Amino acid sequence: MQNHLNDEFVFRYKLIGSVEHIKSGKDQLFLSKMVKICCIGAGYVGGPTMAVIALKCPNIQVAVVDISTARINAWNSDTLPIYEPGLDEVVKKCRGKNLSFSTDVEKHVAESDIVFVSVNTPTKTQGLGAGKAADLTYWESAARMIADVAKSNKIVVEKSTVPVKTAEAIEKILTHNSKGINFSILSNPEFLAEGTAISDLLNPDRVLIGGRETPEGKKAIETLRDVYAHWVPVDRILCTNLWSAELSKLAANAFLAQRISSVNAMSALCEATGADVSQVAHAVGKDTRIGPKFLNASVGFGGSCFQKDILNLVYICECNGIPEVATYWKQVIKVNDYQKTRFVNRIVSSMFNTVSGKKIAVLGFAFKKDTGDTRETPAIDVCKGLIGDKAKLSIYDPQVNQDQIQRDLSMKKFDWDHPVHLQPMSPTSVKDVSVVWDAYTATKDAHGICILTEWDEFKNLDYQKIFNDMQKPAFVFDGRNVVDAEKLRKIGFIVYSIGKPLDDWLKDMPAVA
Ligand code: NAD
Ligand code: UGA
Repeated sequence: MQNHLNDEFVFRYKLIGSVEHIKSGKDQLFLSKMVKICCIGAGYVGGPTMAVIALKCPNIQVAVVDISTARINAWNSDTLPIYEPGLDEVVKKCRGKNLSFSTDVEKHVAESDIVFVSVNTPTKTQGLGAGKAADLTYWESAARMIADVAKSNKIVVEKSTVPVKTAEAIEKILTHNSKGINFSILSNPEFLAEGTAISDLLNPDRVLIGGRETPEGKKAIETLRDVYAHWVPVDRILCTNLWSAELSKLAANAFLAQRISSVNAMSALCEATGADVSQVAHAVGKDTRIGPKFLNASVGFGGSCFQKDILNLVYICECNGIPEVATYWKQVIKVNDYQKTRFVNRIVSSMFNTVSGKKIAVLGFAFKKDTGDTRETPAIDVCKGLIGDKAKLSIYDPQVNQDQIQRDLSMKKFDWDHPVHLQPMSPTSVKDVSVVWDAYTATKDAHGICILTEWDEFKNLDYQKIFNDMQKPAFVFDGRNVVDAEKLRKIGFIVYSIGKPLDDWLKDMPAVA
């Protein structure tokens, strides 16, 4: 029977057979030949995404490969390279069964039926489009390697976030070097958020698959849809053309970031007028057309993607001759920068217009809670602003270590957008910054506290004890609205909470950038 089937059919049959629990002996013959997936890039996306595919598809062999030996060693150890709630359990269940991590990139790519590419796509730092365009160096080298080592037909899946029309460029690289092998390119952008990656992957709002509208393209889409159909309801798997899938990812991140900049812009107006941004956001979000999510005012959004993807969108608009649209989206980033500068200015102006020589405790450095990721964290800009005014910083984050913080603070803007583990440690560590292992050490003898990440533990610290051990007047600048400001004021703190009615102390102090 196998002779009458073309490769594509056998391949799809293997997947579908497992989904529908086919029981006959013949079917077992196919199922015994496992489908192989390889993912290039063992980062925040590649690692968790492949671990969940392995968990939900025991009939599929999943290999995650990376050029970084340190990262792969960590994936094979008891201390995974990224902190993500629930990830350890999933990896432990599958590793050594149908999930493996390896630096033997070429071997696993050559053996696989589906190759996901989940390498980093940072902002270009040099040359044409520097500071805006996506740097596709890592992507291009992965594509060239796939073309080089492939000996059988493959589906190549864009998992990384890429500019619209990247699939066309990748297709050209693959087909010009193909040696007669057929490659089908799919766009399957990832929507997980860090800190909730595992639950996002297990229960996604949608899975998006874009492909060519040709018979081969449609077959490839169906094949990938069958993988996700092991656990995602089919009505949540959206199939589109390639360009819609690529652009939808950039659009989704731009819309999400825009909501945060909108509420942060309102937070400045709230402080000027006596309105409370939480009350405003609650009232606005009650409108079912607007909805309540992503309306928390903050010191600014961070993370590896929002700024990078919007800059990329801006660049694409400019290249397509629509500068008005580019300017519209650029404003989302400008408001985010304004919010961080405003926060620093608020601190300095409240503390008698100087923080020179003063100890400031920084609570939280990660870009959000439940992650150790510091890429584009607002803490970098806030700390650099305070260091610029000669403050002495004592930083505590439950998931970020000293090396990481020193590296982030000594890097030039944009350098940190490139994979940190591939860069040498800066030879000079930042003076006047100490990194400590608990909030009480950080705050002892401090003049002020800045809360920059919304870790739950910061809500329930013993603020009376902290107050007793601080210089007076003692300030709290809450960049995440996590503390009970009234309770702290009763203890004696002067409290600034983003977008909330101002303390009398702060009212006359200018805080505009
Ligand atoms: P990351 O930097 O954590 O991981 C990328 C990995 O790719 C690195 O470990 C790097 O060593 C590896 N790599 C680079 N070139 C390689 C090559 N030629 N061969 C083998 N390995 C190579 O990045 P990430 O956060 O996982 O993001 C990956 C992509 O996913 C980006 O495009 C990003 O925009 C997108 N994305 C990220 C998130 C997120 O939450 N981090 C969410 C959705 C989408
Ligand atoms: C974001 C998107 O939420 C994901 O859908 C997307 O896949 C991902 O980017 C990506 O492409 O990388 P992530 O950056 O991991 O995920 O985390 P978010 O929860 O979106 O938070 C981003 C930043 O916005 C954080 O600094 C967070 O503190 C801040 N934020 C978020 C606010 O300031 N207010 C809010 O109401 C929500």
